[in-house]
Amino acid sequence: MRFHVLTLFPEMVLQGLHTSILGRACEQGLIEIEAVNIRDYTKNKHKKVDDYPYGGGAGMLMQAQPVYDAYKAVEERIAGPDNEKAQEGQEDELANANKSGKPRVIYLTPQGAVFNQNMAKELAKEEDLIFLCGHYEGIDERVLEEIVTDYVSIGDYVLTGGELPAMVMIDAISRLVPEVLNNDVSAEFESFHEDLLEYPQYSRPEEWQGKKVPQVLLSGHHANIENWRREQSIKRTKERRPDLYEKWKAKNE
Ligand code: ADE
Repeated sequence: MRFHVLTLFPEMVLQGLHTSILGRACEQGLIEIEAVNIRDYTKNKHKKVDDYPYGGGAGMLMQAQPVYDAYKAVEERIAGPDNEKAQEGQEDELANANKSGKPRVIYLTPQGAVFNQNMAKELAKEEDLIFLCGHYEGIDERVLEEIVTDYVSIGDYVLTGGELPAMVMIDAISRLVPEVLNNDVSAEFESFHEDLLEYPQYSRPEEWQGKKVPQVLLSGHHANIENWRREQSIKRTKERRPDLYEKWKAKNE
């Protein structure tokens, strides 16, 4: 799976994502992450990429031209002659592949649909994903209309740019790519499996600061352990995420 991030801060994205589990996944060739510097595509002789908004108002806007040219460069590379998927064209069977054969372009904005695990699962089926990170007060609407396929927010708060949201999404999507996590079971059964939160877990020692590991986990009785974990998941979801609990209850009644 390949991630292409259009940004004014490529180092931020690359440094953040080339460590730990994702760093290893890159080394193993399971995922690829490239950061494309939008500023490299400006035709302005002073390398400017922003300007004042028509009609007035606070702050500066990112201009359409450098964003569009940066996007075009990536799109052409993805569709290049070496790319098998592009050659398959309309025959592409990928469940969520864009019908036009063009890659999905995700614009990170608080005005988008709020990202969740289901979206991560759906996006993990794509071969290429392009993330467009805005800065300043946003991006000229005309280029958004031209290239963006998905408007996504990571929550109802406002950040200074789209880089952190893009990194959050890339992390959540990457861990669903086969073999990125050491065992596939954990990707599936962790928090949000079946709309329930994960049960509590314990490691050695058996007693720490007077707190004992629940007896059932030491019993070796697999069915009892499974039952206990499920009960704990339900209890925890009810206490901490009543919204998710109600959703789960409605499905399981
Ligand atoms: N850009 C600024 N704030 C954001 C948010 N909450 N989600 C996605 N992109 C953003």
